[in-house]
Amino acid sequence: MLIEALLGLFIVLLIWLYFREEENPLDKLPGPPKLPFFGNTFELMRFPPDQLMEQLIDFTKTYGDRYVMKVMSLRILHISNPSDIEVVLAHTKNISKSMPYAFLRDWLGSGLLLSTGSHWHRRRKILTPTFHFNILKNFATVIEEKSRDLVHLLKSKKGGDVDLMPVISDYTLFTICETAMGTKLDGDQSAATINYKNAILNMGLLLLSRITKVWLWTDFMFYKSSQGKEFSGLLDTARSFADNVIMDRKAQRAENKVVEVSADAEFGTKRRLAMLDLLLEAEERGEIDMEGIRDEVNTFMFEGHDTTALAITFGLMLIADHDDVQERIFEEVQSILGDDDRPPALSELSDMKYLEAVIKEILRLYPSVPFIGRKVTEDFKLGDLLVKQGTTIDIHFYELHHRADMFPDPEKFDPERFLSSETRHPYAYVPFSAGPRNCIGQRFAMQEMKSTFSEVVRNFKLVPKVKGHRPRVFADIVLRPVDPIYVKFIPRTK
Ligand code: HEM
Repeated sequence: MLIEALLGLFIVLLIWLYFREEENPLDKLPGPPKLPFFGNTFELMRFPPDQLMEQLIDFTKTYGDRYVMKVMSLRILHISNPSDIEVVLAHTKNISKSMPYAFLRDWLGSGLLLSTGSHWHRRRKILTPTFHFNILKNFATVIEEKSRDLVHLLKSKKGGDVDLMPVISDYTLFTICETAMGTKLDGDQSAATINYKNAILNMGLLLLSRITKVWLWTDFMFYKSSQGKEFSGLLDTARSFADNVIMDRKAQRAENKVVEVSADAEFGTKRRLAMLDLLLEAEERGEIDMEGIRDEVNTFMFEGHDTTALAITFGLMLIADHDDVQERIFEEVQSILGDDDRPPALSELSDMKYLEAVIKEILRLYPSVPFIGRKVTEDFKLGDLLVKQGTTIDIHFYELHHRADMFPDPEKFDPERFLSSETRHPYAYVPFSAGPRNCIGQRFAMQEMKSTFSEVVRNFKLVPKVKGHRPRVFADIVLRPVDPIYVKFIPRTK
């Protein structure tokens, strides 16, 4: 009796919600057919996680570069044309992130990726100098050391097939950990360090699987589930590790043990300057508190390793598959460094223009962040279309970068596109996003990728496992290959 009454009440509530809904211009846009009340909720739940991205690509093909889906009463506007993307990304008020980002809240707190409004403005101002050219010079030493360690590791594989993802994930995680926190994850084999590395990797995986499980979207349901409990334990590990590193670093600074060093300096027991030091300096000036520092450190750890790991993985795959591109990179690196075994200076990395075009083309075909989301907090116009407060906007970089009208023969890997003087819409290519909320780590990422590719191609001839193979991809927060990618690294003879 009670159940029937509750069911009746629920139906009345749905009918009331349905008729209460205001008219919305978005309802005139194309999109997959919607059920009354539920919209496309069931359709979204039906897709296995590894097929969601392919399905959304199909929707773009069917309904065009501006279509709408509904989850209950929430309208999700999907866009993949440069003019709409320009309006959304350049908007100075609608800078809030959409709902799935909230899953990161317990980990990243009010760090730069998630925060909004005046809080975000203040933090962005404090953190921008962290990525200034002069500071990046400090990180060059770490990045170079790590890429040489990577070469060493690849040599030990003796030309066999290497499953790229685990190797490269470790590499970028070690690099960001040392540059962000000044902590060597690879050198330190203590249980705390190993647990931390595993916690970061596994939290990422759990978050991804939560996105596609609608029933785990509320915190209540998630933390009751076995996944949520595991996540909570990992979160404790990651938090206490970061807290210890921050406190240690603070103590070292008090004892004057942290110094700015150049690539060839002897620094004995002293530690190199890390991003964390710049945050601690901001704390000394009263601009940020300890909780804020922890949120930012966690944000850099999260944003700064998976994104570059995927770009490097897809990049090595494409370079291995294109001998001509590989030889041109080798020649360019040789022409700048000769047979000298020293690492390239930052200015020499900047001179690698062909390599830069290759990296741009890698990120066009495989943008590490294939889509982003915004929550509309203020009504605004997209051309003639009124987009109301409360709407979610999904901005599809992957589909944008694969548009044949912007990039003829879009599936072809052709770095020349970025060397020609041909002009295209300024928002046709935005792997690091654009506008006020663009990627703050863009220059750091380019430096890391250039260092890696130049060091690897200098030392090895890359050979694909299967010539011409392009993996199926899926997206959670970043774009991933469905199956492992293998490449052989044959040492070059000098
Ligand atoms: C290939 C590598 C990378 C790609 C493709 C990439 C891409 C992006 C994109 C598309 C955004 C916008 C996200 C959104 O609006 O939701 C973003 C934001 C961000 N990225 Fe990156 N990223 C990369 C590497 C890095 C690195 C290495 C770091 C840090 C060291 C970093 C730190 C951040 C941060 C903190 C934000 C938030 C910025 C803000 O909202 O003010 N990223 N990134």
